[in-house]
Amino acid sequence: MEKRKELYAGKAKSIYTTDDPSKMIMLFRDDTSAFDGEKTAQLNRKGMVNNKFNAAIMTKLADAGIPTHFEALVSDNESLVKNLAMLPVECVVRNRAAGSLVRRLGVKEGETLNPPTYELFLKDDALHDPMVNTSLCVSFGWATEVQLEKMEALTLQVNEVLFALFDAAGMVLVDYKLEFGVFNDQIILGDEFSPDGCRIWDKETNKKMDKDRFRQGLGSVIETYEEVGARLGITFD
Ligand code: TMP
Ligand code: ASP
Repeated sequence: MEKRKELYAGKAKSIYTTDDPSKMIMLFRDDTSAFDGEKTAQLNRKGMVNNKFNAAIMTKLADAGIPTHFEALVSDNESLVKNLAMLPVECVVRNRAAGSLVRRLGVKEGETLNPPTYELFLKDDALHDPMVNTSLCVSFGWATEVQLEKMEALTLQVNEVLFALFDAAGMVLVDYKLEFGVFNDQIILGDEFSPDGCRIWDKETNKKMDKDRFRQGLGSVIETYEEVGARLGITFD
């Protein structure tokens, strides 16, 4: 597989074309950002850790029957992925109250949400990823009703798989964000699943083990991501 030109650089990843138009290379950089790009930093080993973390989770999801864009690891910080047409909608599931839910609704951080909640956000940093709903998505053409139904079903199916996986490893999957795209008319899970796009707490101590460590300046960001990986049996060297 030949890597060709950089097509797009996001806040933490870059996308390259390859000699196969149906495949892209996703490069996980050491850049990190929070608050829609307001706070940024470079964290040593981050690209490698998130690339390998994502590969392991995407493989588990594929094994559970969830279609993902992940094809193969191609280097420490690069993965080969399907060339999806991404939809500009972020799908968020919450098992516990945290983050923007606590700020918006004044509920207590850590409150168990049963059943888990499902929210849609528009992917737009300049607007700070505003919350939207299916009606807005359909009217503005961000996704069709059928696509949105499939995205919700898949996002909740991911919760079944991953909540149990983290639970068995002594962690709570508090919430997470997924992004989907279209490939051959099918809805496929894209982007990444790493501690950058979810919240993970230690089950006993409630220690934050995700990007909140960076957002809140708690330190040991990548060391903690590696600890999450180690508990899940993911190796990084
Ligand atoms: P929130 O509490 O800020 O709404 O975020 C909920 C979860 O989704 C949290 O794990 C962070 C993740 N998320 C992102 O990673 N990027 C985003 O743009 C959004 C809206 C959420
Ligand atoms: N809104 C998300 C966060 O605060 C994503 C980002 O801004 O990079 O982490």
